[in-house]
Amino acid sequence: MSLLEIQNLNRHFGGLHAVNSVSFAVEQGMIKAVIGPNGAGKTTLFNLIAGNLSANSGSVYFNETKINGRKPYQIARLGLSRTYQNIKLFHGMTALENVMLGRHIRSKAGFMAGMLNLPWTWPEERLIRDKAMEYLDLLGVVDCADVEISNLSFGQQRGIEFARALATEPALLLLDEPAAGLNIYETAEIGRLITKIRESGVTILLVEHDMSLVMDISDEIVVLSFGEKIAEDLPHNIQQNEEVIRIYLGDEE
Ligand SMILES: Nc1ncnc2c1ncn2[C@@H]1O[C@H](COP(=O)(O)OP(=O)(O)OP(=O)(O)O)[C@@H](O)[C@H]1O
Ligand SMILES: [Mg+2]
Repeated sequence: MSLLEIQNLNRHFGGLHAVNSVSFAVEQGMIKAVIGPNGAGKTTLFNLIAGNLSANSGSVYFNETKINGRKPYQIARLGLSRTYQNIKLFHGMTALENVMLGRHIRSKAGFMAGMLNLPWTWPEERLIRDKAMEYLDLLGVVDCADVEISNLSFGQQRGIEFARALATEPALLLLDEPAAGLNIYETAEIGRLITKIRESGVTILLVEHDMSLVMDISDEIVVLSFGEKIAEDLPHNIQQNEEVIRIYLGDEE
Protein backbone atom coordinates (compact mmCIF):
# COMPACT_ATOMS: atom_id res chain seq x y z
CA MET A 1 0.00 0.00 0.00
CA SER A 2 1.13 3.59 -0.61
CA LEU A 3 2.10 5.87 2.28
CA LEU A 4 -1.10 7.89 1.76
CA GLU A 5 -4.20 6.65 -0.01
CA ILE A 6 -7.24 8.78 -0.59
CA GLN A 7 -10.30 6.89 -1.76
CA ASN A 8 -13.50 8.49 -3.04
CA LEU A 9 -13.29 11.36 -0.59
CA ASN A 10 -16.27 13.71 -0.37
CA ARG A 11 -17.02 16.86 1.55
CA HIS A 12 -19.76 19.34 0.92
CA PHE A 13 -20.69 22.62 2.55
CA GLY A 14 -24.43 22.97 2.09
CA GLY A 15 -25.00 22.63 -1.65
CA LEU A 16 -21.34 23.16 -2.51
CA HIS A 17 -19.36 20.01 -3.29
CA ALA A 18 -15.92 21.23 -2.18
CA VAL A 19 -14.22 17.82 -2.56
CA ASN A 20 -15.99 15.48 -4.97
CA SER A 21 -15.06 11.77 -5.09
CA VAL A 22 -11.33 12.44 -5.05
CA SER A 23 -8.95 9.45 -5.11
CA PHE A 24 -5.18 9.35 -5.44
CA ALA A 25 -2.13 7.93 -3.69
CA VAL A 26 1.19 9.33 -2.51
CA GLU A 27 4.12 6.93 -2.62
CA GLN A 28 6.82 6.95 0.01
CA GLY A 29 9.66 9.36 -0.81
CA MET A 30 7.93 11.46 -3.45
CA ILE A 31 7.03 15.11 -3.77
CA LYS A 32 3.47 15.24 -5.02
CA ALA A 33 1.68 18.50 -5.79
CA VAL A 34 -2.02 19.36 -5.80
CA ILE A 35 -2.83 22.31 -8.03
CA GLY A 36 -6.03 24.00 -9.20
CA PRO A 37 -7.70 27.40 -9.38
CA ASN A 38 -8.86 29.31 -6.28
CA GLY A 39 -11.69 27.48 -4.57
CA ALA A 40 -10.88 24.15 -6.26
CA GLY A 41 -10.92 22.35 -2.89
CA LYS A 42 -7.19 22.03 -2.20
CA THR A 43 -7.20 23.32 1.38
CA THR A 44 -10.42 21.42 2.12
CA LEU A 45 -8.66 18.26 0.93
CA PHE A 46 -5.73 18.97 3.28
CA ASN A 47 -8.14 19.62 6.15
CA LEU A 48 -9.80 16.26 5.49
CA ILE A 49 -6.45 14.44 5.44
CA ALA A 50 -5.09 16.10 8.59
CA GLY A 51 -8.32 15.68 10.56
CA ASN A 52 -9.22 19.38 10.75
CA LEU A 53 -12.47 18.59 8.91
CA SER A 54 -14.48 15.40 8.70
CA ALA A 55 -15.42 13.81 5.38
CA ASN A 56 -19.00 13.10 4.37
CA SER A 57 -17.80 9.84 2.82
CA GLY A 58 -14.69 8.12 1.55
CA SER A 59 -11.47 7.02 3.23
CA VAL A 60 -7.97 8.23 3.96
CA TYR A 61 -5.33 5.60 4.73
CA PHE A 62 -1.97 6.62 6.15
CA ASN A 63 0.62 3.88 6.62
CA GLU A 64 -2.17 1.33 6.17
CA THR A 65 -4.23 2.85 8.98
CA LYS A 66 -7.59 4.42 8.26
CA ILE A 67 -7.22 7.92 9.71
CA ASN A 68 -10.41 9.72 8.81
CA GLY A 69 -12.54 10.28 11.87
CA ARG A 70 -9.46 10.74 14.05
CA LYS A 71 -8.45 13.98 15.75
CA PRO A 72 -5.63 16.14 14.30
CA TYR A 73 -3.29 15.42 17.25
CA GLN A 74 -3.86 11.65 16.88
CA ILE A 75 -3.03 11.87 13.18
CA ALA A 76 0.04 13.98 13.95
CA ARG A 77 1.26 11.30 16.35
CA LEU A 78 1.05 8.73 13.56
CA GLY A 79 3.60 10.82 11.64
CA LEU A 80 1.59 13.24 9.55
CA SER A 81 2.40 16.93 9.91
CA ARG A 82 1.24 20.06 8.10
CA THR A 83 1.70 23.77 7.56
CA TYR A 84 -1.11 26.23 6.86
CA GLN A 85 -1.95 28.55 3.98
CA ASN A 86 -2.11 31.37 6.55
CA ILE A 87 0.87 30.87 8.84
CA LYS A 88 -0.31 29.75 12.27
CA LEU A 89 2.42 30.50 14.79
CA PHE A 90 1.93 31.62 18.37
CA HIS A 91 2.66 35.31 18.67
CA GLY A 92 4.00 36.41 22.04
CA MET A 93 6.31 33.39 21.92
CA THR A 94 9.78 33.09 20.41
CA ALA A 95 10.66 31.04 17.34
CA LEU A 96 12.37 28.43 19.53
CA GLU A 97 9.33 28.10 21.80
CA ASN A 98 7.09 27.60 18.77
CA VAL A 99 9.27 24.80 17.43
CA MET A 100 9.55 23.19 20.89
CA LEU A 101 5.76 23.13 20.97
CA GLY A 102 5.80 20.97 17.83
CA ARG A 103 8.40 18.68 19.34
CA HIS A 104 6.37 18.08 22.50
CA ILE A 105 3.93 15.73 20.78
CA ARG A 106 6.86 13.28 20.64
CA SER A 107 7.82 13.71 24.30
CA LYS A 108 6.67 11.86 27.37
CA ALA A 109 6.49 14.86 29.68
CA GLY A 110 4.17 16.94 27.52
CA PHE A 111 4.02 20.63 26.91
CA MET A 112 2.53 21.86 30.21
CA ALA A 113 4.95 19.96 32.42
CA GLY A 114 7.81 21.36 30.35
CA MET A 115 6.49 24.92 30.56
CA LEU A 116 6.03 24.58 34.32
CA ASN A 117 9.70 23.61 34.45
CA LEU A 118 9.12 20.56 36.64
CA PRO A 119 12.50 19.04 37.61
CA TRP A 120 11.72 15.59 36.21
CA THR A 121 11.25 17.14 32.78
CA TRP A 122 14.69 18.82 32.68
CA PRO A 123 16.68 16.21 30.75
CA GLU A 124 13.86 15.78 28.28
CA GLU A 125 13.36 19.54 27.92
CA ARG A 126 17.01 19.91 27.11
CA LEU A 127 16.74 17.26 24.41
CA ILE A 128 13.66 18.94 22.96
CA ARG A 129 15.46 22.29 22.94
CA ASP A 130 18.51 20.81 21.20
CA LYS A 131 16.33 19.13 18.59
CA ALA A 132 14.33 22.33 18.02
CA MET A 133 17.59 24.25 17.47
CA GLU A 134 18.67 21.59 14.96
CA TYR A 135 15.50 22.12 12.93
CA LEU A 136 15.81 25.92 13.09
CA ASP A 137 19.35 25.50 11.80
CA LEU A 138 18.24 23.16 9.00
CA LEU A 139 15.69 25.76 7.90
CA GLY A 140 18.26 28.56 8.01
CA VAL A 141 16.49 30.50 10.78
CA VAL A 142 18.56 29.57 13.81
CA ASP A 143 19.46 33.26 14.28
CA CYS A 144 15.77 33.91 14.96
CA ALA A 145 15.56 31.40 17.85
CA ASP A 146 15.05 33.96 20.61
CA VAL A 147 13.08 36.49 18.59
CA GLU A 148 9.35 36.91 19.17
CA ILE A 149 7.32 35.87 16.11
CA SER A 150 5.80 39.32 15.41
CA ASN A 151 9.30 40.73 14.86
CA LEU A 152 10.17 38.32 12.06
CA SER A 153 9.71 38.61 8.30
CA PHE A 154 7.21 36.50 6.40
CA GLY A 155 9.97 34.35 4.92
CA GLN A 156 11.46 33.74 8.38
CA GLN A 157 8.03 32.84 9.77
CA ARG A 158 7.59 30.27 6.97
CA GLY A 159 10.94 28.75 7.90
CA ILE A 160 9.88 28.52 11.54
CA GLU A 161 6.55 26.97 10.60
CA PHE A 162 8.43 24.36 8.55
CA ALA A 163 10.77 23.72 11.49
CA ARG A 164 7.81 23.25 13.83
CA ALA A 165 6.16 20.80 11.42
CA LEU A 166 9.41 18.84 11.01
CA ALA A 167 10.07 18.76 14.75
CA THR A 168 7.33 16.14 15.07
CA GLU A 169 9.51 13.92 12.83
CA PRO A 170 6.75 13.23 10.33
CA ALA A 171 6.79 10.58 7.62
CA LEU A 172 4.50 12.79 5.54
CA LEU A 173 4.46 16.57 5.43
CA LEU A 174 1.53 18.53 3.95
CA LEU A 175 2.48 22.02 2.80
CA ASP A 176 -0.38 24.40 1.91
CA GLU A 177 1.00 27.15 -0.35
CA PRO A 178 4.49 27.39 1.15
CA ALA A 179 5.51 30.10 -1.34
CA ALA A 180 2.46 32.34 -0.78
CA GLY A 181 3.56 35.91 -0.02
CA LEU A 182 7.24 35.19 -0.66
CA ASN A 183 9.44 37.04 -3.16
CA ILE A 184 11.24 35.15 -5.95
CA TYR A 185 14.42 34.68 -3.92
CA GLU A 186 12.54 33.36 -0.91
CA THR A 187 10.49 31.10 -3.23
CA ALA A 188 13.65 29.63 -4.75
CA GLU A 189 14.97 29.05 -1.23
CA ILE A 190 11.73 27.30 -0.19
CA GLY A 191 12.08 25.06 -3.27
CA ARG A 192 15.59 24.06 -2.20
CA LEU A 193 14.37 23.45 1.34
CA ILE A 194 11.50 21.22 0.25
CA THR A 195 13.91 19.16 -1.84
CA LYS A 196 16.29 18.93 1.11
CA ILE A 197 13.47 17.79 3.42
CA ARG A 198 12.53 15.06 0.94
CA GLU A 199 16.17 13.96 0.77
CA SER A 200 16.08 13.53 4.55
CA GLY A 201 13.38 10.87 4.03
CA VAL A 202 10.16 12.84 4.44
CA THR A 203 7.42 12.37 1.83
CA ILE A 204 5.76 15.62 0.74
CA LEU A 205 2.28 16.56 -0.45
CA LEU A 206 2.21 20.16 -1.56
CA VAL A 207 -0.47 22.67 -2.58
CA GLU A 208 1.03 25.56 -4.52
CA HIS A 209 0.04 28.24 -7.03
CA ASP A 210 3.59 29.07 -8.13
CA MET A 211 3.76 26.89 -11.26
CA SER A 212 7.48 27.16 -11.85
CA LEU A 213 8.12 25.94 -8.30
CA VAL A 214 5.60 23.08 -8.73
CA MET A 215 7.03 21.99 -12.10
CA ASP A 216 10.56 22.23 -10.73
CA ILE A 217 10.27 20.08 -7.62
CA SER A 218 7.27 17.72 -8.04
CA ASP A 219 7.42 14.09 -9.14
CA GLU A 220 3.69 13.96 -9.84
CA ILE A 221 0.82 16.42 -9.97
CA VAL A 222 -2.90 16.12 -9.19
CA VAL A 223 -5.17 18.79 -10.67
CA LEU A 224 -8.41 19.73 -8.94
CA SER A 225 -11.19 21.83 -10.43
CA PHE A 226 -14.48 22.52 -8.64
CA GLY A 227 -13.71 19.75 -6.17
CA GLU A 228 -13.00 17.07 -8.78
CA LYS A 229 -9.75 15.51 -9.83
CA ILE A 230 -9.41 16.26 -13.54
CA ALA A 231 -5.84 15.05 -14.07
CA GLU A 232 -3.00 13.20 -12.38
CA ASP A 233 0.29 12.88 -14.20
CA LEU A 234 3.97 13.77 -14.48
CA PRO A 235 4.69 17.53 -14.51
CA HIS A 236 5.74 17.43 -18.15
CA ASN A 237 2.39 15.85 -19.18
CA ILE A 238 0.34 18.17 -16.97
CA GLN A 239 1.89 21.16 -18.75
CA GLN A 240 0.55 19.79 -22.05
CA ASN A 241 -2.85 18.60 -20.79
CA GLU A 242 -5.49 20.55 -22.73
CA GLU A 243 -8.12 20.52 -20.02
CA VAL A 244 -5.60 21.81 -17.49
CA ILE A 245 -4.45 24.55 -19.86
CA ARG A 246 -8.07 25.58 -20.48
CA ILE A 247 -8.81 25.80 -16.75
CA TYR A 248 -5.77 27.94 -16.09
CA LEU A 249 -6.39 30.24 -19.04
CA GLY A 250 -10.03 30.55 -17.93
CA ASP A 251 -8.75 31.40 -14.47
CA GLU A 252 -6.66 34.28 -15.81
CA GLU A 253 -9.37 35.84 -17.95
N1 LIG B 1 -15.60 25.94 6.21
C1 LIG B 1 -16.21 26.19 5.04
N2 LIG B 1 -17.53 26.48 4.97
C2 LIG B 1 -18.15 26.70 3.80
N3 LIG B 1 -17.52 26.69 2.60
C3 LIG B 1 -16.22 26.41 2.60
C4 LIG B 1 -15.48 26.15 3.81
N4 LIG B 1 -14.18 25.90 3.49
C5 LIG B 1 -14.11 26.02 2.13
N5 LIG B 1 -15.32 26.31 1.61
C6 LIG B 1 -15.62 26.45 0.18
O1 LIG B 1 -15.17 25.28 -0.46
C7 LIG B 1 -14.55 25.58 -1.71
C8 LIG B 1 -13.13 25.07 -1.71
O2 LIG B 1 -12.36 25.89 -0.83
P1 LIG B 1 -10.82 25.61 -0.54
O3 LIG B 1 -10.40 26.58 0.51
O4 LIG B 1 -10.63 24.19 -0.27
O5 LIG B 1 -10.17 25.99 -1.94
P2 LIG B 1 -8.63 26.09 -2.36
O6 LIG B 1 -8.47 25.22 -3.55
O7 LIG B 1 -7.76 25.85 -1.19
O8 LIG B 1 -8.54 27.61 -2.82
P3 LIG B 1 -7.32 28.67 -2.69
O9 LIG B 1 -6.41 28.37 -3.85
O10 LIG B 1 -7.99 29.98 -2.88
O11 LIG B 1 -6.68 28.51 -1.36
C9 LIG B 1 -14.66 27.09 -1.90
O12 LIG B 1 -15.79 27.35 -2.68
C10 LIG B 1 -14.84 27.59 -0.47
O13 LIG B 1 -15.57 28.79 -0.44
MG1 LIG C 1 -6.39 26.97 -0.16
